[in-house]
Amino acid sequence: MDGLGGGLGGSEEIQSTGREHHLQGAAANALSNMAKQHAWAHSAHPRSPSYLFFSVVALSFLSLIALLIYKVDNFASQTKTIVGHNLEPTPWHLFPPKNFTDESRHSRAYKIIQCSYLTCRYAATVGGAQPSEGQEEERRGLVSSRTPPQCPNFFKFIYRDLEPWMKTRISVNHINETKQHAAFRIVIVEGKLFVDLYYACVQSRLMFTLWGILQLIKKYPGMVPDVDMMFDCMDKPTIERARVENGSLPLPLFRYCTTEAHFDIPFPDWSFWGWPEVNVEAWDDQFKEIKKGSQAQTWLKKIPRAYWKGNPDVESPIRLALMQCNDSNLWGTEIIRQDWAEEAKTGYERSKLSDQCNYRLLLCDDGPGTLEDYSLRVLNKLGSYKLLECFDLVSTLFVGNPSRIFQAVTLAHYKIYAEGYAWSVSLKYILSCGSLPLLISPQYEDFFTRALVPKLNYWPVSNIDLCRSIKFAVDWGNTNPSQAEAVGKRAQHLMESLSMNRVYDYMFHLISEYAKLQDFKPVPPSSAQQVCEESLLCFADDKQKEFLKKSAVTDGSSTPPCTLIKRPNPNFFTIWNDQKRKIIDNVRDMENRANAAIT
Ligand SMILES: *[C@@H]1O[C@H](CO)[C@@H](O)[C@H](O)[C@H]1NC(C)=O
Ligand SMILES: *[C@@H]1O[C@H](CO)[C@@H](O)[C@H](O)[C@H]1NC(C)=O
Ligand SMILES: *[C@@H]1O[C@H](CO)[C@@H](O)[C@H](O)[C@H]1NC(C)=O
Ligand SMILES: *[C@@H]1O[C@H](CO)[C@@H](O)[C@H](O)[C@H]1NC(C)=O
Repeated sequence: MDGLGGGLGGSEEIQSTGREHHLQGAAANALSNMAKQHAWAHSAHPRSPSYLFFSVVALSFLSLIALLIYKVDNFASQTKTIVGHNLEPTPWHLFPPKNFTDESRHSRAYKIIQCSYLTCRYAATVGGAQPSEGQEEERRGLVSSRTPPQCPNFFKFIYRDLEPWMKTRISVNHINETKQHAAFRIVIVEGKLFVDLYYACVQSRLMFTLWGILQLIKKYPGMVPDVDMMFDCMDKPTIERARVENGSLPLPLFRYCTTEAHFDIPFPDWSFWGWPEVNVEAWDDQFKEIKKGSQAQTWLKKIPRAYWKGNPDVESPIRLALMQCNDSNLWGTEIIRQDWAEEAKTGYERSKLSDQCNYRLLLCDDGPGTLEDYSLRVLNKLGSYKLLECFDLVSTLFVGNPSRIFQAVTLAHYKIYAEGYAWSVSLKYILSCGSLPLLISPQYEDFFTRALVPKLNYWPVSNIDLCRSIKFAVDWGNTNPSQAEAVGKRAQHLMESLSMNRVYDYMFHLISEYAKLQDFKPVPPSSAQQVCEESLLCFADDKQKEFLKKSAVTDGSSTPPCTLIKRPNPNFFTIWNDQKRKIIDNVRDMENRANAAIT
């Protein structure tokens, strides 16, 4: 029975307790009988206060409590939760199930009941969340008195993502059918969020995704339409364009990324609100920190090498290929393998994202003097480096050799982005560095990467002959430093313009446009639970709470969402892609000519 905490699914739980189910039926009868008895006893109490009678009442009462506890336990062991209780991993992408063994069975059951069923109700009756009518009016007044800016260009892709359903619209049947690909279903009705859970999601993805939607509702009160959305929280798109039969409609499925060959609808991923497992902060804070870090060094002092740091063990062929390019003399490239297991132990101090833009270097110095003399000498020699640490290695590594090692750090000139198992959340941090981003032929797109234009705000690197292609980019940047710097700055600027305000606006418009296509009125399924801020926080552990609270929207926005540009001409997307392709082809030509000249 306790295996439940080990992540056994609901169905397995029911099978293994078949006998107890029988018991449970009997228990239910006993319960109602006892309740009747109790009621009767209560009214009879003043007339016959005998000793025997009290014993019977006390006994019944105790059994009732025991039974209640048993029932609650049983009920809880069948309740699916946003942190993954009683849910199995998605069958299309398995991962180790979560353990809930740190809590006792009863406290777990209590928590499940408390957070799933009681917290939102209590919050609603206390009524802190609902604005009064007066406040609402006032807010509307404010909202309409300011002219919102126009949404950035990439919002146009909302139309492309929803194109398949423009004419025929979306029916309940359609949503029902999409369930086979979904981990959960989100239904928003009158500003309330309901979630129907089918499978567990890795780490805290689901929690932070739901949090983002709750914040959206809070930011634009009364404005988010009723909607019914199927969602998958795993990485790879599944609705293949090629496999959608002629005349039939693709299934509408939301996830964090898509590709040109898929119909999956991209939605901002959880990391915009924080990723506590790897110490990534909410996007606005994280961007500020990265930008501040990047300004500590001027471009000219940055090191003229391409730099990648990350985890190659994620079933990503491109990351494996990248390992071969680790030669600063031959390819101008340095690859650092990130040891997640090791860093998890040290709280990810060394992999802090604001450090990601940095290039680390170890230097030896065996001149005379004190440690301070060494430091000064190294600093003078390098000028551009910020000295991080000095190790006096006499007594440690190189026994007998009086050298000292300095770990220095500077900004990388060129930052490589390599996709992981699918898209990688790291792209937005790499683009924020102010270094020239080298993107290795990305196959996946998330909601904002459609705004990227090769040579304008990134450099396109080919996945064929990868090392040579990176080397070419490095050489180009070294011979055209001001152009390379300008591209890096534009990428950083683009990421600055993608503030959380714009992320919420994107969610708002995507949901609104999608909702217009529904040919039915959304109703939460009977198995769905309401999720509110309080219930979500109720499930969060201390660290998650800290991250969630930091990314909370403080109040309704006084400015309305940006204005969505009218639906573009259908040719727009073809032309856009053709133009991108042309620029990339042009870079490939330059590369080929350069290679031909060498050989
Ligand atoms: C869950 O617990 C089991 C047994 O204690 C352990 O073998 C497994 O690795 C744990 N899984 C996770 C994801 O921590
Ligand atoms: C959708 O599925 C639910 C449960 O699976 C069912 O009750 C409902 O009738 C279905 N709706 C349609 C329109 O098929
Ligand atoms: C769909 O139609 C196109 C032509 O309109 C045809 O080439 C293709 O084979 C069809 N695909 C399927 C799966 O029927
Ligand atoms: C790449 O080369 C550097 C310097 O030789 C080395 O420190 C680093 O561990 C190498 N990275 C990988 C992933 O092998």
